[in-house]
Amino acid sequence: MKNIDEVLSGVDWEQGLVSPEIHFDEDVYRAESDKVFNKAWLVVGHEDMVPKINDYVTNYMGDVPVVVTRDGRGDVHVLVNRCSHRGNQVCLFDRGNAKGFTCSYHGWSFGLDGQLNGVPMEQALYHGKLDKSALGLETVPKVANFHGLLFASFDPDAPSLESWLGEDVSWWLKNFVLAAPLGGLEMLPGWHRYRSPGNWKLVSENFIGDDYHVFSATHISWLAVMQEFVSKGMDAPMATYPANAQSVYEGAIGGAENAPFGMGMVTVGSDDLFQRDLSEAKTLGTDAVEWIHHRKQRLDEISKDLEGAPYSFMNGGLFPNLGLMGFFSPMIGRQFLMFHPRGAIEHEVWQWNMVEREAPQVVKDLAIQRAHQGQHMAGIVAPDDVENFERMVEAGKPTRNWERPFHYGLQMGQEDEGPAGLHGTMGPNPSEFNQRRFYRFWLQMMERK
Ligand code: FES
Ligand SMILES: [Fe+2]
Repeated sequence: MKNIDEVLSGVDWEQGLVSPEIHFDEDVYRAESDKVFNKAWLVVGHEDMVPKINDYVTNYMGDVPVVVTRDGRGDVHVLVNRCSHRGNQVCLFDRGNAKGFTCSYHGWSFGLDGQLNGVPMEQALYHGKLDKSALGLETVPKVANFHGLLFASFDPDAPSLESWLGEDVSWWLKNFVLAAPLGGLEMLPGWHRYRSPGNWKLVSENFIGDDYHVFSATHISWLAVMQEFVSKGMDAPMATYPANAQSVYEGAIGGAENAPFGMGMVTVGSDDLFQRDLSEAKTLGTDAVEWIHHRKQRLDEISKDLEGAPYSFMNGGLFPNLGLMGFFSPMIGRQFLMFHPRGAIEHEVWQWNMVEREAPQVVKDLAIQRAHQGQHMAGIVAPDDVENFERMVEAGKPTRNWERPFHYGLQMGQEDEGPAGLHGTMGPNPSEFNQRRFYRFWLQMMERK
Protein backbone atom coordinates (compact mmCIF):
# COMPACT_ATOMS: atom_id res chain seq x y z
CA MET A 1 0.00 0.00 0.00
CA LYS A 2 1.33 3.43 -0.91
CA ASN A 3 0.96 6.32 1.48
CA ILE A 4 -0.59 9.57 0.29
CA ASP A 5 2.79 11.28 -0.27
CA GLU A 6 3.85 8.46 -2.57
CA VAL A 7 0.62 8.77 -4.51
CA LEU A 8 1.04 12.54 -4.82
CA SER A 9 4.54 12.09 -6.22
CA GLY A 10 2.76 10.64 -9.26
CA VAL A 11 1.27 14.05 -10.11
CA ASP A 12 3.93 15.46 -12.44
CA TRP A 13 1.97 18.39 -13.83
CA GLU A 14 5.10 19.98 -15.32
CA GLN A 15 5.51 17.02 -17.65
CA GLY A 16 1.77 16.69 -18.09
CA LEU A 17 1.72 13.25 -16.48
CA VAL A 18 -0.81 12.48 -13.76
CA SER A 19 -1.20 9.19 -11.95
CA PRO A 20 -4.76 7.85 -12.38
CA GLU A 21 -4.57 6.70 -8.77
CA ILE A 22 -5.76 10.17 -7.68
CA HIS A 23 -9.02 9.53 -9.56
CA PHE A 24 -9.71 6.07 -8.17
CA ASP A 25 -8.14 5.60 -4.77
CA GLU A 26 -10.45 5.90 -1.73
CA ASP A 27 -7.65 7.16 0.56
CA VAL A 28 -6.95 10.04 -1.82
CA TYR A 29 -10.67 10.77 -1.89
CA ARG A 30 -10.84 10.99 1.90
CA ALA A 31 -7.70 13.13 2.09
CA GLU A 32 -8.99 15.61 -0.46
CA SER A 33 -12.31 16.00 1.40
CA ASP A 34 -10.21 17.51 4.14
CA LYS A 35 -7.43 19.24 2.20
CA VAL A 36 -9.47 20.59 -0.69
CA PHE A 37 -13.18 20.74 0.11
CA ASN A 38 -12.81 21.74 3.76
CA LYS A 39 -10.39 24.53 2.84
CA ALA A 40 -11.41 25.98 -0.52
CA TRP A 41 -13.98 28.63 -1.28
CA LEU A 42 -16.82 26.71 -2.93
CA VAL A 43 -19.69 28.05 -4.98
CA VAL A 44 -23.00 27.34 -3.23
CA GLY A 45 -25.42 29.10 -5.57
CA HIS A 46 -26.52 32.50 -6.85
CA GLU A 47 -28.36 35.19 -4.93
CA ASP A 48 -31.14 34.98 -7.50
CA MET A 49 -32.01 31.55 -6.03
CA VAL A 50 -32.95 33.15 -2.70
CA PRO A 51 -34.31 36.55 -3.73
CA LYS A 52 -36.94 36.91 -0.97
CA ILE A 53 -36.94 36.85 2.82
CA ASN A 54 -37.27 33.22 4.06
CA ASP A 55 -36.18 31.70 0.74
CA TYR A 56 -33.91 28.70 0.88
CA VAL A 57 -32.18 26.36 -1.52
CA THR A 58 -30.11 23.26 -0.84
CA ASN A 59 -26.71 22.45 -2.26
CA TYR A 60 -23.54 20.57 -1.32
CA MET A 61 -20.08 21.63 -0.22
CA GLY A 62 -18.06 18.62 -1.27
CA ASP A 63 -20.20 15.78 0.05
CA VAL A 64 -21.70 17.84 2.89
CA PRO A 65 -25.36 18.78 2.37
CA VAL A 66 -25.96 22.47 3.04
CA VAL A 67 -28.87 24.89 2.89
CA VAL A 68 -28.46 28.44 1.62
CA THR A 69 -31.02 30.66 3.34
CA ARG A 70 -32.11 34.28 3.43
CA ASP A 71 -33.29 35.02 6.96
CA GLY A 72 -35.93 37.46 8.20
CA ARG A 73 -33.41 40.31 8.17
CA GLY A 74 -32.36 39.59 4.61
CA ASP A 75 -29.00 38.06 5.55
CA VAL A 76 -27.73 35.05 3.63
CA HIS A 77 -26.52 32.03 5.63
CA VAL A 78 -25.07 28.72 4.63
CA LEU A 79 -26.09 26.04 7.13
CA VAL A 80 -25.03 22.42 7.33
CA ASN A 81 -28.20 20.42 6.71
CA ARG A 82 -27.82 18.23 9.79
CA CYS A 83 -29.77 18.33 13.00
CA SER A 84 -27.75 19.12 16.12
CA HIS A 85 -29.73 16.51 18.07
CA ARG A 86 -28.86 13.29 16.28
CA GLY A 87 -27.88 14.18 12.78
CA ASN A 88 -31.02 13.94 10.66
CA GLN A 89 -31.30 16.28 7.68
CA VAL A 90 -33.60 19.11 8.70
CA CYS A 91 -34.39 20.60 5.30
CA LEU A 92 -36.36 18.07 3.32
CA PHE A 93 -37.03 20.00 0.14
CA ASP A 94 -34.69 21.26 -2.56
CA ARG A 95 -35.87 24.84 -2.26
CA GLY A 96 -38.75 26.87 -1.00
CA ASN A 97 -39.84 29.59 1.38
CA ALA A 98 -40.31 28.86 5.08
CA LYS A 99 -39.79 30.50 8.45
CA GLY A 100 -37.70 27.58 9.63
CA PHE A 101 -36.97 23.87 9.50
CA THR A 102 -38.45 21.27 11.82
CA CYS A 103 -36.53 18.03 12.09
CA SER A 104 -38.63 15.03 11.12
CA TYR A 105 -37.07 12.76 13.78
CA HIS A 106 -37.81 14.37 17.20
CA GLY A 107 -39.16 17.72 16.10
CA TRP A 108 -36.44 20.19 17.04
CA SER A 109 -37.01 23.38 15.05
CA PHE A 110 -34.49 25.84 13.69
CA GLY A 111 -34.68 29.33 12.25
CA LEU A 112 -33.23 30.26 8.86
CA ASP A 113 -30.29 31.79 10.72
CA GLY A 114 -29.60 28.32 12.17
CA GLN A 115 -30.74 29.10 15.73
CA LEU A 116 -32.45 26.32 17.65
CA ASN A 117 -35.86 27.83 18.43
CA GLY A 118 -38.01 24.98 19.65
CA VAL A 119 -37.64 21.60 21.37
CA PRO A 120 -40.74 19.46 21.98
CA MET A 121 -41.50 19.04 25.70
CA GLU A 122 -38.38 20.99 26.56
CA GLN A 123 -39.27 21.83 30.16
CA ALA A 124 -40.65 18.42 31.03
CA LEU A 125 -37.74 16.48 29.56
CA TYR A 126 -34.70 18.70 29.93
CA HIS A 127 -35.74 20.50 33.13
CA GLY A 128 -34.38 23.87 32.05
CA LYS A 129 -30.90 22.43 31.51
CA LEU A 130 -30.76 22.50 27.69
CA ASP A 131 -28.54 25.27 26.33
CA LYS A 132 -30.37 25.96 23.10
CA SER A 133 -27.96 28.73 22.14
CA ALA A 134 -25.19 26.13 21.75
CA LEU A 135 -27.30 23.74 19.70
CA GLY A 136 -28.07 25.65 16.53
CA LEU A 137 -27.36 24.20 13.11
CA GLU A 138 -23.73 24.41 12.14
CA THR A 139 -23.21 27.68 10.31
CA VAL A 140 -20.58 27.69 7.59
CA PRO A 141 -18.17 30.32 8.90
CA LYS A 142 -17.25 32.09 5.68
CA VAL A 143 -19.84 33.26 3.18
CA ALA A 144 -19.33 35.84 0.44
CA ASN A 145 -21.36 37.25 -2.40
CA PHE A 146 -19.36 37.92 -5.56
CA HIS A 147 -21.57 39.93 -7.92
CA GLY A 148 -24.42 37.56 -7.23
CA LEU A 149 -22.46 34.31 -7.10
CA LEU A 150 -22.50 32.93 -3.55
CA PHE A 151 -19.37 31.29 -2.16
CA ALA A 152 -18.72 29.64 1.20
CA SER A 153 -15.77 28.07 2.97
CA PHE A 154 -15.64 25.68 5.92
CA ASP A 155 -12.25 27.10 6.87
CA PRO A 156 -12.63 29.90 9.44
CA ASP A 157 -9.06 30.97 8.55
CA ALA A 158 -9.63 30.94 4.80
CA PRO A 159 -8.17 33.94 2.98
CA SER A 160 -10.75 36.50 1.87
CA LEU A 161 -12.65 35.50 -1.27
CA GLU A 162 -11.04 38.49 -2.93
CA SER A 163 -7.58 37.06 -2.42
CA TRP A 164 -8.68 33.48 -3.19
CA LEU A 165 -9.85 34.69 -6.61
CA GLY A 166 -7.29 37.45 -7.20
CA GLU A 167 -7.61 40.36 -9.57
CA ASP A 168 -7.50 38.53 -12.91
CA VAL A 169 -10.02 35.80 -12.06
CA SER A 170 -12.27 38.48 -10.55
CA TRP A 171 -12.15 40.50 -13.76
CA TRP A 172 -13.31 37.62 -15.96
CA LEU A 173 -15.87 36.31 -13.49
CA LYS A 174 -17.42 39.69 -12.84
CA ASN A 175 -17.43 41.10 -16.36
CA PHE A 176 -17.62 38.11 -18.58
CA VAL A 177 -19.35 35.30 -16.70
CA LEU A 178 -21.65 37.11 -14.27
CA ALA A 179 -22.15 40.03 -16.67
CA ALA A 180 -22.18 42.51 -13.78
CA PRO A 181 -21.68 45.62 -15.94
CA LEU A 182 -24.36 44.33 -18.33
CA GLY A 183 -27.02 44.16 -15.62
CA GLY A 184 -26.16 40.75 -14.13
CA LEU A 185 -27.82 37.39 -14.61
CA GLU A 186 -31.20 35.95 -13.71
CA MET A 187 -32.27 32.39 -13.12
CA LEU A 188 -34.05 30.43 -15.79
CA PRO A 189 -36.66 27.93 -14.58
CA GLY A 190 -35.64 24.39 -13.82
CA TRP A 191 -32.76 22.72 -12.00
CA HIS A 192 -31.09 19.76 -13.40
CA ARG A 193 -29.21 16.91 -11.72
CA TYR A 194 -27.68 13.65 -12.66
CA ARG A 195 -25.21 11.16 -11.31
CA SER A 196 -22.36 10.15 -13.49
CA PRO A 197 -19.49 7.72 -13.16
CA GLY A 198 -16.07 9.34 -12.80
CA ASN A 199 -14.09 11.15 -10.14
CA TRP A 200 -15.17 14.80 -9.75
CA LYS A 201 -11.73 15.97 -10.96
CA LEU A 202 -12.15 14.28 -14.33
CA VAL A 203 -15.22 16.31 -15.14
CA SER A 204 -13.86 19.52 -13.56
CA GLU A 205 -10.72 19.31 -15.69
CA ASN A 206 -12.89 18.66 -18.71
CA PHE A 207 -14.73 21.97 -18.26
CA ILE A 208 -11.69 23.96 -17.19
CA GLY A 209 -9.68 23.00 -20.21
CA ASP A 210 -10.66 20.19 -22.55
CA ASP A 211 -11.73 21.53 -25.92
CA TYR A 212 -9.71 18.82 -27.63
CA HIS A 213 -12.53 16.32 -27.11
CA VAL A 214 -15.15 18.64 -28.61
CA PHE A 215 -13.88 18.55 -32.18
CA SER A 216 -11.66 15.49 -32.23
CA ALA A 217 -14.18 12.84 -31.23
CA THR A 218 -16.70 13.17 -28.40
CA HIS A 219 -19.00 15.87 -29.74
CA ILE A 220 -18.74 15.31 -33.48
CA SER A 221 -22.33 14.06 -33.46
CA TRP A 222 -23.39 17.47 -32.16
CA LEU A 223 -21.40 19.18 -34.90
CA ALA A 224 -22.91 16.88 -37.52
CA VAL A 225 -26.44 17.71 -36.37
CA MET A 226 -25.65 21.43 -36.51
CA GLN A 227 -24.28 21.08 -40.02
CA GLU A 228 -27.34 19.23 -41.19
CA PHE A 229 -29.67 21.90 -39.82
CA VAL A 230 -27.63 24.62 -41.49
CA SER A 231 -27.49 22.76 -44.80
CA LYS A 232 -31.29 22.56 -44.78
CA GLY A 233 -31.57 26.27 -44.03
CA MET A 234 -33.11 25.56 -40.61
CA ASP A 235 -32.43 27.27 -37.29
CA ALA A 236 -29.86 25.01 -35.70
CA PRO A 237 -29.94 24.27 -32.00
CA MET A 238 -26.71 25.43 -30.36
CA ALA A 239 -25.29 26.45 -33.72
CA THR A 240 -22.77 29.14 -33.30
CA TYR A 241 -19.10 29.05 -34.01
CA PRO A 242 -16.68 31.71 -35.18
CA ALA A 243 -15.79 31.31 -38.84
CA ASN A 244 -12.29 32.47 -38.03
CA ALA A 245 -10.72 29.87 -35.75
CA GLN A 246 -7.66 32.12 -35.44
CA SER A 247 -9.61 34.32 -33.03
CA VAL A 248 -10.30 31.51 -30.53
CA TYR A 249 -8.02 31.14 -27.50
CA GLU A 250 -7.60 29.22 -24.29
CA GLY A 251 -7.78 31.59 -21.33
CA ALA A 252 -5.72 30.53 -18.30
CA ILE A 253 -6.37 32.86 -15.41
CA GLY A 254 -5.16 32.83 -11.79
CA GLY A 255 -3.81 29.47 -10.78
CA ALA A 256 -0.61 30.07 -8.84
CA GLU A 257 -1.55 31.88 -5.64
CA ASN A 258 -5.21 32.07 -6.66
CA ALA A 259 -7.81 29.54 -7.66
CA PRO A 260 -7.24 28.50 -11.27
CA PHE A 261 -9.92 29.65 -13.66
CA GLY A 262 -9.92 28.36 -17.19
CA MET A 263 -11.93 29.49 -20.17
CA GLY A 264 -12.09 27.39 -23.28
CA MET A 265 -12.51 29.07 -26.64
CA VAL A 266 -12.51 32.71 -25.68
CA THR A 267 -13.08 34.80 -28.78
CA VAL A 268 -10.98 37.93 -29.08
CA GLY A 269 -10.56 40.30 -31.99
CA SER A 270 -13.23 38.86 -34.23
CA ASP A 271 -16.54 40.31 -35.25
CA ASP A 272 -17.99 36.99 -36.46
CA LEU A 273 -19.98 36.04 -33.43
CA PHE A 274 -21.36 39.49 -32.83
CA GLN A 275 -22.58 39.51 -36.44
CA ARG A 276 -24.11 36.05 -36.01
CA ASP A 277 -25.93 37.15 -32.86
CA LEU A 278 -27.08 40.30 -34.60
CA SER A 279 -28.52 38.41 -37.54
CA GLU A 280 -30.39 36.06 -35.21
CA ALA A 281 -31.60 39.03 -33.15
CA LYS A 282 -33.08 40.52 -36.32
CA THR A 283 -35.37 37.52 -36.58
CA LEU A 284 -36.51 38.13 -32.98
CA GLY A 285 -37.45 41.81 -33.24
CA THR A 286 -36.12 45.28 -32.48
CA ASP A 287 -35.78 44.73 -28.70
CA ALA A 288 -33.34 41.92 -29.33
CA VAL A 289 -31.40 43.93 -31.92
CA GLU A 290 -31.08 46.92 -29.57
CA TRP A 291 -29.97 44.70 -26.71
CA ILE A 292 -27.30 42.97 -28.82
CA HIS A 293 -25.91 46.39 -29.88
CA HIS A 294 -26.10 47.78 -26.36
CA ARG A 295 -24.26 44.90 -24.70
CA LYS A 296 -21.54 44.93 -27.38
CA GLN A 297 -20.97 48.60 -26.68
CA ARG A 298 -20.72 47.90 -22.94
CA LEU A 299 -18.31 44.98 -23.50
CA ASP A 300 -16.07 47.21 -25.62
CA GLU A 301 -16.09 49.88 -22.89
CA ILE A 302 -15.11 47.35 -20.21
CA SER A 303 -12.15 46.24 -22.33
CA LYS A 304 -11.09 49.67 -23.56
CA ASP A 305 -7.86 49.68 -21.54
CA LEU A 306 -6.93 46.17 -22.64
CA GLU A 307 -5.32 45.15 -25.90
CA GLY A 308 -8.35 43.31 -27.22
CA ALA A 309 -12.04 43.01 -26.56
CA PRO A 310 -13.21 39.48 -25.76
CA TYR A 311 -16.75 38.79 -26.95
CA SER A 312 -17.77 35.35 -25.74
CA PHE A 313 -16.59 31.93 -24.63
CA MET A 314 -17.60 28.32 -24.98
CA ASN A 315 -16.79 26.60 -21.69
CA GLY A 316 -15.02 27.28 -18.45
CA GLY A 317 -14.25 26.10 -14.96
CA LEU A 318 -13.28 27.52 -11.60
CA PHE A 319 -11.29 25.37 -9.19
CA PRO A 320 -12.32 23.12 -7.60
CA ASN A 321 -15.69 22.07 -8.96
CA LEU A 322 -17.63 24.74 -10.85
CA GLY A 323 -18.18 24.26 -14.57
CA LEU A 324 -19.53 26.86 -16.97
CA MET A 325 -20.98 26.88 -20.44
CA GLY A 326 -21.32 30.08 -22.45
CA PHE A 327 -21.76 28.48 -25.89
CA PHE A 328 -20.22 31.58 -27.54
CA SER A 329 -23.46 33.52 -27.41
CA PRO A 330 -25.60 35.49 -24.97
CA MET A 331 -28.64 34.16 -26.88
CA ILE A 332 -27.99 30.72 -25.38
CA GLY A 333 -27.83 31.79 -21.75
CA ARG A 334 -25.18 30.56 -19.37
CA GLN A 335 -25.03 27.21 -17.62
CA PHE A 336 -23.51 26.70 -14.16
CA LEU A 337 -22.61 23.16 -13.16
CA MET A 338 -21.39 21.93 -9.79
CA PHE A 339 -19.52 18.62 -9.81
CA HIS A 340 -20.20 17.21 -6.38
CA PRO A 341 -18.00 14.29 -5.30
CA ARG A 342 -19.83 11.06 -4.55
CA GLY A 343 -17.03 8.71 -3.61
CA ALA A 344 -13.83 8.23 -5.58
CA ILE A 345 -15.42 7.05 -8.80
CA GLU A 346 -18.71 8.90 -9.02
CA HIS A 347 -19.93 12.48 -9.07
CA GLU A 348 -23.26 14.24 -9.17
CA VAL A 349 -23.90 17.22 -11.42
CA TRP A 350 -26.12 20.00 -10.08
CA GLN A 351 -26.85 22.41 -12.86
CA TRP A 352 -28.71 25.66 -13.09
CA ASN A 353 -29.15 27.98 -16.05
CA MET A 354 -29.09 31.76 -16.24
CA VAL A 355 -29.48 34.50 -18.80
CA GLU A 356 -28.53 38.17 -18.85
CA ARG A 357 -31.18 40.07 -16.93
CA GLU A 358 -31.44 42.85 -19.49
CA ALA A 359 -32.12 40.47 -22.37
CA PRO A 360 -35.60 40.83 -23.85
CA GLN A 361 -38.15 38.14 -23.01
CA VAL A 362 -37.93 36.61 -26.46
CA VAL A 363 -34.23 35.87 -25.84
CA LYS A 364 -34.96 34.48 -22.38
CA ASP A 365 -37.53 32.10 -23.87
CA LEU A 366 -35.01 30.96 -26.43
CA ALA A 367 -32.32 30.49 -23.77
CA ILE A 368 -34.62 28.14 -21.79
CA GLN A 369 -35.09 25.93 -24.85
CA ARG A 370 -31.42 25.95 -25.68
CA ALA A 371 -30.29 25.04 -22.17
CA HIS A 372 -32.23 21.83 -22.66
CA GLN A 373 -31.01 21.20 -26.19
CA GLY A 374 -27.34 21.44 -25.36
CA GLN A 375 -25.60 21.06 -22.01
CA HIS A 376 -28.30 18.88 -20.50
CA MET A 377 -28.81 15.19 -19.96
CA ALA A 378 -31.62 15.25 -22.51
CA GLY A 379 -29.60 17.49 -24.80
CA ILE A 380 -27.06 16.83 -27.46
CA VAL A 381 -23.87 17.53 -25.50
CA ALA A 382 -23.78 16.07 -21.97
CA PRO A 383 -24.69 12.39 -22.60
CA ASP A 384 -21.67 11.85 -24.82
CA ASP A 385 -19.33 13.01 -22.04
CA VAL A 386 -20.92 10.66 -19.52
CA GLU A 387 -20.33 7.68 -21.81
CA ASN A 388 -16.61 8.47 -21.82
CA PHE A 389 -16.50 8.73 -18.02
CA GLU A 390 -18.31 5.41 -17.70
CA ARG A 391 -15.70 3.68 -19.85
CA MET A 392 -12.82 5.43 -18.08
CA VAL A 393 -14.07 4.11 -14.74
CA GLU A 394 -14.40 0.60 -16.12
CA ALA A 395 -10.83 0.66 -17.40
CA GLY A 396 -9.46 2.53 -14.39
CA LYS A 397 -10.75 0.45 -11.48
CA PRO A 398 -8.17 -2.34 -11.72
CA THR A 399 -5.23 -1.20 -9.58
CA ARG A 400 -2.69 -2.57 -12.06
CA ASN A 401 -3.91 0.12 -14.46
CA TRP A 402 -2.85 2.91 -12.09
CA GLU A 403 0.82 2.58 -13.00
CA ARG A 404 0.56 4.25 -16.37
CA PRO A 405 -0.07 8.00 -16.05
CA PHE A 406 -2.72 10.01 -17.87
CA HIS A 407 -1.26 12.32 -20.48
CA TYR A 408 -1.78 16.09 -20.47
CA GLY A 409 0.89 17.22 -22.91
CA LEU A 410 -1.11 19.33 -25.39
CA GLN A 411 0.52 22.69 -26.28
CA MET A 412 3.36 22.12 -23.82
CA GLY A 413 5.66 25.13 -24.18
CA GLN A 414 3.16 27.05 -26.32
CA GLU A 415 0.98 28.11 -23.40
CA ASP A 416 1.20 31.88 -23.84
CA GLU A 417 1.19 32.18 -27.62
CA GLY A 418 -2.08 34.09 -27.72
CA PRO A 419 -2.83 37.80 -27.56
CA ALA A 420 -1.10 39.67 -24.74
CA GLY A 421 -2.63 42.53 -22.80
CA LEU A 422 -5.70 40.75 -21.41
CA HIS A 423 -6.09 39.55 -17.83
CA GLY A 424 -4.38 36.18 -17.34
CA THR A 425 -2.75 34.23 -20.15
CA MET A 426 -4.22 33.64 -23.57
CA GLY A 427 -2.86 30.62 -25.36
CA PRO A 428 -3.71 28.47 -28.34
CA ASN A 429 -6.86 26.37 -28.29
CA PRO A 430 -7.22 23.45 -27.83
CA SER A 431 -4.68 23.00 -25.09
CA GLU A 432 -4.13 21.04 -21.89
CA PHE A 433 -2.52 24.01 -20.16
CA ASN A 434 -5.52 24.51 -17.91
CA GLN A 435 -5.52 20.86 -16.85
CA ARG A 436 -1.82 21.14 -15.93
CA ARG A 437 -2.64 24.24 -13.84
CA PHE A 438 -5.61 22.50 -12.26
CA TYR A 439 -3.43 19.60 -11.04
CA ARG A 440 -0.66 21.94 -9.92
CA PHE A 441 -3.08 23.81 -7.67
CA TRP A 442 -4.76 20.61 -6.46
CA LEU A 443 -1.32 19.23 -5.56
CA GLN A 444 -0.42 22.42 -3.66
CA MET A 445 -3.57 22.08 -1.59
CA MET A 446 -3.03 18.37 -0.97
CA GLU A 447 0.57 18.92 0.15
CA ARG A 448 -0.29 21.70 2.57
CA LYS A 449 0.35 20.54 6.14
S1 FES B 1 -32.42 14.12 15.11
FE1 FES B 1 -33.38 16.01 14.82
S2 FES B 1 -34.68 16.23 16.48
FE2 FES B 1 -33.68 14.38 16.88
FE1 LIG C 1 -17.88 17.43 -23.46
